[in-house]
Amino acid sequence: MQPREIKPKIYWVGGVDWNLRYFHGYLTPRGTSYNAYLIIDDKITLVDTVKEYLFDEMLDRIGKIIDPARIDYLVVNHVEMDHSGSVPKFMEAAPQAKIVTSPNGKKGLQRYYKKDWDYLLVNSGDELKIGARTLKFVHTPMVHWPDSMVTYIPEEKLLLPNDAFGQHIAGAERFDDELGWEIVYEEAAKYYANIVLLYGDNVKKALGVVAGLPIDMIAPSHGLIWRSFIPNILKAYQRWANYDADKKAVIVYDTMWGSTQKIALALKDGLDEAGIPVTIRSLQTSHISEIMPDVLFSKAVLIGTPTINNGMLPTCGAFLTYLKGLRPKKRIGLAFGSYGWGGQGAKEVKAAMETLGWTMPLDMVNIQYRPDPGELNAVRELGTKLGEIINSD
Ligand code: FEO
Repeated sequence: MQPREIKPKIYWVGGVDWNLRYFHGYLTPRGTSYNAYLIIDDKITLVDTVKEYLFDEMLDRIGKIIDPARIDYLVVNHVEMDHSGSVPKFMEAAPQAKIVTSPNGKKGLQRYYKKDWDYLLVNSGDELKIGARTLKFVHTPMVHWPDSMVTYIPEEKLLLPNDAFGQHIAGAERFDDELGWEIVYEEAAKYYANIVLLYGDNVKKALGVVAGLPIDMIAPSHGLIWRSFIPNILKAYQRWANYDADKKAVIVYDTMWGSTQKIALALKDGLDEAGIPVTIRSLQTSHISEIMPDVLFSKAVLIGTPTINNGMLPTCGAFLTYLKGLRPKKRIGLAFGSYGWGGQGAKEVKAAMETLGWTMPLDMVNIQYRPDPGELNAVRELGTKLGEIINSD
């Protein structure tokens, strides 16, 4: 694949990871890309690199434009290895290059690579003139790591925000409009739900900075470059950072002998009656990372498990561990389950929802052995009541 000029003398020279299907616990059925950008100016600058195993691909693209040894600056916006993995090889190819990064970026690079490179440390708000263009750096800690920063080029109205606004998509397309809003938005939401959700308050701060900048292109470090749908994705990020959700529900459950599933379906019937769109996710068929976008979009999250060995099913335990890590806020929760004698499973779900600070206006459902028609009817009514609460929220 050739380099792609995204602005005059600014080139995408990243790597496409066609076969990636698993990204630290997150399934990536469309693969991904690691985007690096080469800026040809008085001082030639590369912004970010790629995973180590795609270094040759990146170098080949750079080599189609200039001799890599001529690069003066390497901006490291973020130390995570999907972006910094090629830094050691790159520094061999461009030994006179200076690494431009945040103080935390330098600490991270030193911890990972134990090399004595030449650094130019930049604080938030610092500017670096590279010729006709200026690089302006804004620290965005915890979007995604403490070292994260964004690079802004005012002369080009170009924002290079690294992980923020990314999507895990591999492809020949480079721009949002080449693939279309629906797919790029779906993957941006999945990415946000699985990677960024925990950092909503930090995202809000970063959005505050971005709001004051003239921008006509956002070129993240994963997936497609935003040029046609910038207001749309900024609006989506604003909403997600506020933990706002739709009047929808997602029911997540696992079942042992079918009783918890019966309860799940009765809850769905009840919510249906109240006019609430419901998504059902069995933990036997949906990976936890596929469920997170439903949590992102749904005001109510209902989670069910039977009791086994005095606790919940391990599938539910894995989901709750993931959920507690990503910590979605402002949700309405309902725990449910079935049991033989102890009944601890649903109680553990309820405790996890309490830890998350969710509101739980209705009592949990916990039914012994198999729910009878009367009990299922009561569960349906509870679902409808929950639907009314969602509607009035
Ligand atoms: Fe794409 Fe936090 O790395």
